[in-house]
This record gives sequence, structure tokens and C-alpha cells, in this order.
Amino acid sequence: MNQLNKHNTSLRDSLELEENQLDSSTLSSLVDLDSIDLVLREYLTIEEMREAGSFFTGSKLAISAVNSFQSSITFDSVVLDPTCGAGNLLIECSRRLGVESTLSETLKKWGKVLWGFDIHESFVEATRLRIVVEALYRGIEKDCSIDEALEFLINIKCRDALTLSNEELASVTHAIMNPPFTIWPSPKEHYWKIGKVNAAGIIFDKYLRILPETCQVSAILPDVLRSGSRYDDFRVYCSSSFNAECSVWGRFNTKTDVDVFILSGVKKHENDRQIAWFEDIGEYTPVSDLFDVRTGPLVAYREPEEGPLLPYFHLKNSPAWEVVSDVTERRCFSGKVLSPPFVVVKRTSSPSDRYRASATIINIKEDVAIENHMIVIIPKDGKLKSCRALLRILKSDNTNAFLNDRARMRHLTVGVVKAIPIKK
Ligand SMILES: C[S@@+](CC[C@H](N)C(=O)[O-])C[C@H]1O[C@@H](n2cnc3c(N)ncnc32)[C@H](O)[C@@H]1O
Repeated sequence: MNQLNKHNTSLRDSLELEENQLDSSTLSSLVDLDSIDLVLREYLTIEEMREAGSFFTGSKLAISAVNSFQSSITFDSVVLDPTCGAGNLLIECSRRLGVESTLSETLKKWGKVLWGFDIHESFVEATRLRIVVEALYRGIEKDCSIDEALEFLINIKCRDALTLSNEELASVTHAIMNPPFTIWPSPKEHYWKIGKVNAAGIIFDKYLRILPETCQVSAILPDVLRSGSRYDDFRVYCSSSFNAECSVWGRFNTKTDVDVFILSGVKKHENDRQIAWFEDIGEYTPVSDLFDVRTGPLVAYREPEEGPLLPYFHLKNSPAWEVVSDVTERRCFSGKVLSPPFVVVKRTSSPSDRYRASATIINIKEDVAIENHMIVIIPKDGKLKSCRALLRILKSDNTNAFLNDRARMRHLTVGVVKAIPIKK
């Protein structure tokens, strides 16, 4: 990933200008935390960015992540971003530090505080160059060459964050991160089971294990770690080692369709205070008390068209908020059939949707096949009346608010549908 090299060369060229030629608006644009994401998008395709997990934190979110530290950053701190990218979070951290009158004196002090790693050399170089720009932007005298200036930032280096040990991090007082949200093979250790998992979970888990006791941690993480049923064990582990607050942020930025939250607190071995991952809404009766919930059994692309010819329902022939009593389509299917009446809910769902749980009642007098992009909610009493009552609940503002707090992912899970409150 050397695509930022071109950008780094122009950064370096700007920095090597005589001091009186460095204008403050150029410097300001070079350390604008919102524009580096756009710079990267000029060099990489969205697929390459996804593969590298290289989405850089914008200004507002960076400020909020740094403000979430419970103790301030000072010259006695060591602040680490283990996946620093082009340095946005470290630049925001540097804004909490004072400056000396010269570049060399300032970077001598900043270099001890600011630590960062990334696996891509061009990102590491961009981080170091941008920190030099940031220092100059603060109005100090440029008394050394750029190469000399960069040498003060010796703790910002090209390293794989997963290869660090406790000993190497013993002096870290603050850790800040926005790890990649890529899907990685499971490390298959501790509670991680086989399969693929979100890289942010793997990296965050690793740092909770190796950071020193009482270290302040502030992390920007994808919502799936907060609300996905596959990450129950991750959440249990976080609560056991981290005295932390969880704060829902919303969409990462306008160009990146993923919701994030900030998890911040203090590393504490044998922590006994549970993290409040969701709003506490007190005691209530959930959907699962009165309904059975499952995903539709028919996976259209892999199921052979064999077996009895059945009424078949999928996203396109299940109109929202209607009761379907006529068969519009049939398909052969030899798998699990379901007996109406029941409610189907579209799995694809986003916090920007008017209704998070877009639902339809299927009321056909024979067994049916239901496609896998829908969640099926079957009344335990077998009554159409119960389905109608549920439809009203699913359409309510309370259900939208519940789901927007509980699951800001782009799909609903069986677990979260089971938890929808139907009675207080
Ligand atoms: C989502 S970006 C965040 C960058 C920066 N912290 C920010 O907030 O703008 C994640 C970064 O992690 C880096 N990364 C991915 N795997 C890594 C690893 N194993 N070790 C260190 N960095 C890694 C990527 O190159 C990318 O720059």
C-alpha cells in the first residue's frame, strides 16, 4: 500500500519550502482531519480501502474520541494509536499538548508522547510528516531540516499491531484507536471460535490484554461488536477487563456506510462493573416470550428446485404492513416448511430507514417456503390476532427507538428481534 507516497512527496515538498513561503492555509489543509480520507479515495478504489480497512477518522469523531479519555494528555503521557493510518487521532492528541518556541524543541517533547504503528510504510510516513506540519501550523520557528524533524518521531513506526507484547507497552498511559473493520480469520484463541471475525474485535481484544493496568483507552469500534450476537463473548471479556462507558456515535462518515460507537475507560484486571452496551429500559416482556423467531429456511441461490411445489414468499412479494392471504408465487422446496399465520420481517435494515422492522403477515391456509432474507416470527398461540397485535408493535416509534439503540448494523438478527419489547 504505497499509494500515499505521492501525497507524502508533495507534503515533503511543501515542508521544505523556506519558512516565509509556508502559508498557514496550506499547512491547515494538510492537517485537516476530514480531507485525508478524500485524498486516499483519489488513490485507492473503495474495494482496496475496504481490504486495507483504511478509513480515516474525521475531525468531530476524533475530537470526541480524545475527549473521552478520563484523564488529560500531558507531557508525562505516552499516547499510542496501534493502527494509526495517516495519523488523524495522533494529530488530535497533539492538539492537547503545548509547543516550545522551535520545531526541534517541540518535536523532542511530542516525540516522547506520541506513539503510533501501522503496517503500511506510506501511512506511517504520512503520520510523521503531518505531525511536523501540525507543529509548524502552531506557529513555531522552523529551526531544523525535515529529516531532522522526522527523527524526533521515533515512536511512530511501521509495525504489525498484533506482534506487540506487554513489555513493549509498559509505559503507555493512553491508547486511542480506530482499528480496521475488515473481516479476518478467527485467531482461534481465548473465546474466538472458528470462522471469520471483525478485525476491530481482534485488535481491541489483543490491546485489552497487553496494555498496562490503569491505562486509559478510547476506541472507535463498529456497531456489530456492540450488538452482534456473534460477539457476546467479546462483550463479556471487555466487561471483565475494562471499566468503560459505551457511547453510540452513528454513521462513521457520509461516505462510509457503517455505524460506530466509542468505547472508553480504564483497563482494569478483574473489573466487576458491567459495561452498559445498551440503554437500560427496565423489565419488559420480549417478543420471544410469545413468539418463536427464526430466519427463513430457503437459501435461494443454493437450494435445488426439488420437492413439493409450495407457496413461496421473499422480499419482493411481501409488501410491508399488509396481510397476504393469496398465493402469488410457488416454488419447489424440500426443506423446512412453515405453517401460517405468522409475521415476516425484512432482515436488511438501517437506522436511516423509516421503519426498522418492516413486516408482513402471511396468512395462507397451507404450508409455505420462506426465503432466507426474512426473519419469521411465529405466534406460540397460532392466532392471526397475535400477528396483527405484533404488526402494530413493530410499526411503533418505540420499536424503532429500541432497534436504533440495540442494533445499528445494516441488518436485523434473530437475537435482536427476539428482544423487541412487546409489553412493559
Ligand atoms: C480504520 S484505519 C484508522 C487509521 C487512524 N487510526 C484513523 O483513525 O484515522 C485502520 C488502519 O489500520 C491499519 N492496519 C491494519 N492492520 C494492521 C495491523 N495488523 N497492524 C497495524 N496497523 C494495521 C491500516 O493500514 C489502517 O491504516
